[in-house]
Amino acid sequence: MSSSLTLFSFFAVTFLYTSSHSFNITNILNQHNDFSKFNNLLTQTQLASTINNRQPITVLAVSNDVMSALVPGRPLDVIKKILSLHIVLDYYDEKKLKSLNGKSVILTTLFQSSGQAQGQQGFLNATVLKNGDVLIGSAGSSVQTQVVESVMSQPFNISVLHISSAIMINVRPENGPPFTPPPRSAPPPNDDDYDYDEPPSPPSPHSSAPGAGPLKATAKTSSASGVSGINSHPAFAFALVITSILWFMT
Ligand SMILES: *[C@@H]1O[C@H](CO)[C@@H](O)[C@H](O)[C@H]1NC(C)=O
Ligand SMILES: *[C@@H]1O[C@H](CO)[C@@H](O)[C@H](O)[C@H]1NC(C)=O
Ligand SMILES: *[C@@H]1O[C@H](CO)[C@@H](O)[C@H](O)[C@H]1NC(C)=O
Repeated sequence: MSSSLTLFSFFAVTFLYTSSHSFNITNILNQHNDFSKFNNLLTQTQLASTINNRQPITVLAVSNDVMSALVPGRPLDVIKKILSLHIVLDYYDEKKLKSLNGKSVILTTLFQSSGQAQGQQGFLNATVLKNGDVLIGSAGSSVQTQVVESVMSQPFNISVLHISSAIMINVRPENGPPFTPPPRSAPPPNDDDYDYDEPPSPPSPHSSAPGAGPLKATAKTSSASGVSGINSHPAFAFALVITSILWFMT
């Protein structure tokens, strides 16, 4: 009797715990065969778990047929930097982008927060044309890719947008070991201070962006607060399991 109760409370707690994870990017992309290469790389570079622990977030997904521009001949640490440029630290779905009709907005990416970006490399420039087309490129670069469609969205936590090609930038591979492991768990809110050879901060690259100010500010503050509350769940769930097991065993 008490053992079945223990089992019950275990499942109850497990359910509470898993349902507190609001999304899993690996599972989201698994539902779309077109993104399997992109998805595998997110897992290999451990960016998937970073994404799962951050919200609001927007993932710019690249389909298999154009992944060949990104992958062959590049070490994993370089691929990781380029992929982290495809992860925007704010929520942008099609509706929000369309509301920027005729404007440009500067987006802050995970690459920027890694402290490894040089110059404006960590920022994207999204331009919404009058006809509703959305073009995105590395800030300060004229090469742009187009938003094809929305893959999924869960307002206002995660949005996945399909873009027509990878956004490429020139990044150096690491000098030392071939691959520098990322931080184990979710980056803390103030993860702007990695120990890497951070280049001197460039003069604020976005200050000249018309109309980008408020949105930029939103991206910064909300990404900082978006991590809160996640990390306490495992410990809490674990404590509950232990407590209920002890309770029913005595
Ligand atoms: C979005 O995130 C918030 C904060 O973590 C959470 O309370 C809410 O349930 C999430 N929304 C959805 C639809 O999962
Ligand atoms: C997300 O889903 C993948 C594949 O199903 C799984 O391996 C991974 O552990 C999940 N991550 C989280 C945080 O639940
Ligand atoms: C963003 O792109 C638009 C259109 O290409 C351009 O007019 C604008 O100057 C760019 N902004 C920045 C900060 O690069």
